[in-house]
This record gives sequence, C-alpha cells and structure tokens, in this order.
Amino acid sequence: MTAPERITVDLGGRSYDVVVGSGLVDDAGRHLGPLLRQPRAIVVTDETVGALYGDRLETALARAAIDGSTIVVPSGERTKDLDHLERLVEDLLDRRIERSTTVIALGGGVVGDLAGFAASIVLRGVDFVQVPTTLLAQVDSSVGGKTGINTRHGKNLVGAFHQPRCVLADTGVLDTLPRRELLAGYAEVVKYGLIDDPEFFDWLCDHGPDVLAGDQRARCHAIATSCRAKARIVAADEREAGQRALLNLGHTFAHALEADAGYGGSLLHGEAVAIGMVMACDLSVRRGHCPPEDLTRLRRHLSAVGLPTEPTSPRGKAGLSALIDHMRNDKKVVGGRVAFVLVNGIGKAFLARDVDLAEVEALLAGAAAA
Ligand SMILES: NC(=O)c1ccc[n+]([C@@H]2O[C@H](COP(=O)([O-])OP(=O)(O)OC[C@H]3O[C@@H](n4cnc5c(N)ncnc54)[C@H](O)[C@@H]3O)[C@@H](O)[C@H]2O)c1
Ligand SMILES: [Zn+2]
Repeated sequence: MTAPERITVDLGGRSYDVVVGSGLVDDAGRHLGPLLRQPRAIVVTDETVGALYGDRLETALARAAIDGSTIVVPSGERTKDLDHLERLVEDLLDRRIERSTTVIALGGGVVGDLAGFAASIVLRGVDFVQVPTTLLAQVDSSVGGKTGINTRHGKNLVGAFHQPRCVLADTGVLDTLPRRELLAGYAEVVKYGLIDDPEFFDWLCDHGPDVLAGDQRARCHAIATSCRAKARIVAADEREAGQRALLNLGHTFAHALEADAGYGGSLLHGEAVAIGMVMACDLSVRRGHCPPEDLTRLRRHLSAVGLPTEPTSPRGKAGLSALIDHMRNDKKVVGGRVAFVLVNGIGKAFLARDVDLAEVEALLAGAAAA
C-alpha cells in the first residue's frame, strides 16, 4: 500500500482535505477522529454499497471509539427526490442527531448529494464527510460542496452549497464497481485533461487502460490529479460565477442527451458526457477554434477505452433534432442564450457566450444525417 495523496480544497475557514488512496475505508477512524466535533457519526449509504462496505466502515469507526450507526437508502437516481429527503431527515432526527454529530455519506453521487443536502438543512446544518465509492463521485461530485435532489421539473433543481469537512476517496472500493459505471466516471477524468491539462490528457492516453484495469497507483494518480483540478477551480470560484462553469465542458449536450434518453439507465451521465465532449470539440472545430487533429485524438481515446462518442437517441433522427429544445430548457441558460464551454484545443477550454443555437442545430442535423 502506498501513502495516500492529500489535496486541500482551499476555502479559508471552510478548507478541507481530499484524501486519495487504497484502504481508506478501513482507515476512516484514524482520518476522521481528529476532525469530528463529537465522537459520533451517522453513516448514510445505499443498499448496494451498504452491503459491501457498511460493516467495514462501522468497524473502522468503532476502532477509533467513534459511535457510528447506519441509515440505508435504496440504490439509484430515484432516491434523490423530496420523498427520500423527507424520510432521511426524519430518520436523522429519530436518531437524535445533534448539532455536533457528523453525517458520513458512503456511496456514489446519489448518496453524496442526498445525504449532503440533508446535512445542510437538518438542525440548520451539521458537519458532513464524503466517502465516495464510484469513480464519478471520487473525481467530481464529492468535491466542491454542491448537494441536492431532483424534482419533477428536472435534475438537481433543489439543493444547497454545503462543503464537506473531509473527503476519503478509497481507490480499492472501485474494484466492485460495475465496469460500465467505472467507464462513465472515467469520462469526467478525461474532462479535466481537456479543460486545462494537456499533459494529463497525454498521460491518460498511455495509462487510461491501467486506471480502468485496477492498477491502484495509476488510479490514485488519475483521481488525485482530477481532484486537484476540481479543487483549484472550486477554490477560485466556489459559487460558479465564472471559472467553475468550465467544469460543464460537454455537459450542455450531455444533459440534453440524458433528458432525451429519459434517465432510465440506457445512457449513464458519464456516457452522455463522453459524447457531449466530442460534440463540444466538434463545434469548436467547425467554428475554427480547435485543430481537427485534437478532435480525432479525443474521439480515438474515448473509443479505445470503450466510451461512446456519437450522439444517439431512442427516437432516432427525430430525437437528435429535438435535443435543441432540451438545451433551451437547461438550467444554465441565461436570458435565453446558451453558454457553451468550447476548446481551442486539448487542454484549452473557454466559455463561449456567443454561440447561436442555429450552429448547434446544424451540428445535430449533421449527426442525424450520418
Ligand atoms: N454534486 C455534484 O457536484 C455532482 C457532480 C456530478 C454528478 N452528481 C450527481 O451524482 C449522481 C450520479 O452519481 P454516481 O454515478 O456515483 O451514481 P450512483 O450513486 O447511483 O452509483 C451508481 C451505482 O453504483 C453502485 N455503487 C456505488 N459504489 C459502488 C461500489 N464501490 N461497488 C459496487 N457498486 C457501487 C450504486 O449503488 C449505484 O447503483 C447524479 O445524481 C448526479 O446528479 C453530482
Ligand atoms: Zn458530470
């Protein structure tokens, strides 16, 4: 076992560390003990992750004399709703949670977003720790303090910024993650290379297969580099007034593709992000911002690891043309204009506020005709 990497998210008095390494679940008590305001924590997990790692985390807490109990919620995106939020908040109160008790989210982005939001509102806010168990949660959702749930109006429309006290990203738990989920998270890893780190993109072209195959050192490097990138961007722009928007690279397209696919598991978020990044890069080439070779390299790497790169719709060509309507409804639309993250090349993302939806329509028409 190599020593874990530690990345600080620098937010003044609310700064916290992201610790990345293998074996951190079993070592959680040692890492969390000094941070807790009271030797008591309530773990929130889902059925799948709870069955795999719930006991191990409770044992680790007990070894550090931390009184831990566990609340289990159903697995899957449908748990991120108002009903489950209400149930979770009542469960926390039933267990006599106090202002100095810590809520620990053990799971993927669903558990992290739901438990984090519950922690932000119960008793007007209690401390919160993330133990992310999917690659997506380790490189993205657990860092940055965005928490929330979905409503019938759309995804993540109700929530709060609530920064964790610490993030423990155990690379070992990814061994049980289904390959498709692992790959979906990997798309977000590639995103960091594409935003502002061309060397990391090169490294991924060489070592991405090792990261996916379970090489712990490669995994640790990929996750730590991603968290460092996210930590840097979040520290510069905690509430997404500017630079943080770059993290949405590929996401305007991705959200439209996901909405079109119906969030039913036929298209995972990360798969949509892979396609969305290719579309953003393609649009950048068409507008003369980006060399076509960079688009080719991006496509080649994503397909080499097994991620999709072409837009698809369950409704075929008609569905692709309708994606534009989904984009108009995107949360990020300001005054009717869609701000797109485009690239001047791999590692050179920028925010374009002058994209005409007609250009995007032409891109989609091209995809539909292919
Ligand atoms: N807050 C943010 O900044 C942010 C950023 C990106 C995404 N998100 C949110 O994250 C959510 C998606 O997160 P996700 O992709 O982690 O999905 P998820 O939490 O649903 O996890 C995916 C599946 O993998 C299972 N699982 C988790 N860890 C496992 C492990 N180690 N071994 C075996 N199975 C495991 C889960 O039970 C689930 O069935 C979405 O709701 C999205 O909106 C939030
Ligand atoms: Zn994403």
